[in-house]
Amino acid sequence: MTHGDPMTIEVLDRLIKSRRTVRDFSADPVSDATVSELIDAAVWAPNHRMTEPWRFFVLKKDGEGRKRVGDLIHAWTFENTPNPNPDRKQASADAARREVLDAPALVYAYSLSGDSDEIAEENYAAVACAVQNFMLAAHARGLGVGWSTGKVCKPPDLAATLGLTEPARISGCLYVGYPAAAPTSSRRDSSAVTTWL
Ligand SMILES: Cc1cc2nc3c(=O)[nH]c(=O)nc-3n(C[C@H](O)[C@H](O)[C@H](O)COP(=O)(O)O)c2cc1C
Repeated sequence: MTHGDPMTIEVLDRLIKSRRTVRDFSADPVSDATVSELIDAAVWAPNHRMTEPWRFFVLKKDGEGRKRVGDLIHAWTFENTPNPNPDRKQASADAARREVLDAPALVYAYSLSGDSDEIAEENYAAVACAVQNFMLAAHARGLGVGWSTGKVCKPPDLAATLGLTEPARISGCLYVGYPAAAPTSSRRDSSAVTTWL
């Protein structure tokens, strides 16, 4: 890689702009080695005070951890689905668990809280950068990632179930796999959100 080289610039800009949130995956497996490569990229994110505040939990496909978390999400979703109809609750809970079990690879990302609110905020921002690294590294390899802060992150005992004992804030659950479709997205032109002084 040559810094400033037009090819390098073009490839990086294209990767950043063509990365999409993916939740619809083919059945192709994602190897542990590939997941490790994504986490290797994630940990090179900037982090103030070198706190390296990220903690990742990889729930292996068909593994015990994945099943445990799937059951936890099922129970939480059943309890918290606003629709009082038991069939609806059951259907929502089943669907939530199925998403957890079906993802070709599944990784939770947490941010350690540190010793003050200021550090907790810096750490949370650093972990968001780490997740973006993870997603770009995935995209470069033809993989898609869906970053969720939804149901799958909500059960209060999730961190304990994953074995996390330090105070931490969840950054998200990352669904990883080979895309089954090509989602699109859009952005306003950057000039609409930029003030030059
Ligand atoms: C902090 C954060 C949380 C997110 N949580 C969810 C989520 O719970 N469910 C979901 O479908 N997408 C979630 N997303 C993905 C966004 O909806 C997505 O990035 C946005 O629609 C733009 O699409 P793109 O990533 O393809 O450009 C989240 C993104 C971020 C940054």
